[in-house]
Amino acid sequence: MALENQTAIITGAGKGIGKATAIALAKEGVNLGLLARNRADLESLQQELTSAYRIKVSIATADVSKRAVAERAVETLIGELGSLDILLNNAGVAQFGTLADMDPEQWEQVIRTNLMGTYYVTRVALPTMLKQNGGTIINIASTAGERGFATGSAYCASKHAVLGLTEALMQEVRKSNIRVTALTPSTVNTDLAVNAGLPIGDEDRMMQAEDVAELILAALKLPPRVFLKTAGIWTTNPQ
Ligand SMILES: NC(=O)c1ccc[n+]([C@@H]2O[C@H](COP(=O)([O-])OP(=O)(O)OC[C@H]3O[C@@H](n4cnc5c(N)ncnc54)[C@H](OP(=O)(O)O)[C@@H]3O)[C@@H](O)[C@H]2O)c1
Repeated sequence: MALENQTAIITGAGKGIGKATAIALAKEGVNLGLLARNRADLESLQQELTSAYRIKVSIATADVSKRAVAERAVETLIGELGSLDILLNNAGVAQFGTLADMDPEQWEQVIRTNLMGTYYVTRVALPTMLKQNGGTIINIASTAGERGFATGSAYCASKHAVLGLTEALMQEVRKSNIRVTALTPSTVNTDLAVNAGLPIGDEDRMMQAEDVAELILAALKLPPRVFLKTAGIWTTNPQ
């Protein structure tokens, strides 16, 4: 399915998987609404994309963990783009520590960003898709959403919850031709992984953000009557 002239909002678009997906969608002619907290990252990506491709790129800075701020930003982006076909809920943080030792404020912030942010953004975006009777929502979960590991209580809880939200919403809106998908990548070579000290194995063979973007593109190009429900993407590099 051609994606040209569709519109997409990507949260966490300033770097990593979000940025790689923005670039991949721009190449397909998709108009973009980019959201993150850091304005400089968004402005530089906006500049890069609008000078290379004939697409519209709107940006909005917002912390998705703050409901009113997130809602305003998404409403602004939808208003500027005029429609919304694709929502990529990608903004996320990883903080690790034992449940006993981890600062409760940090623990809650992981949940607020990864789970509540996904909920806040989706809740505001959904009416546009319901009105037009179609759209695709892709939520970036993680292998941490499928199994727990020591020091991962906050991150694993947030990503398990994203998978639950995804499946429940999928059941609510599939009859409205809205496809809801969750992706569960293993470790990807981004700032998030490096800063969290995740094991990366052989660096040359580590999975890249562009690889996840390829899967997102493939999911979006499926005929509108079908959708990827949940998909993992792993590297052949043992970690
Ligand atoms: N890297 C991995 O190994 C891996 C594996 C599986 C799943 N994931 C998931 O993939 C997603 C993207 O991660 P990544 O690896 O690409 O990380 P990244 O390179 O650190 O990028 C994260 C993006 O999210 C934005 N962000 C973070 N907190 C935000 C907030 N509260 N409000 C708005 N934007 C926020 C960041 O920008 P600002 O700081 O400017 O806001 C940045 O643009 C996350 O959901 C992560 O959990 C990552």
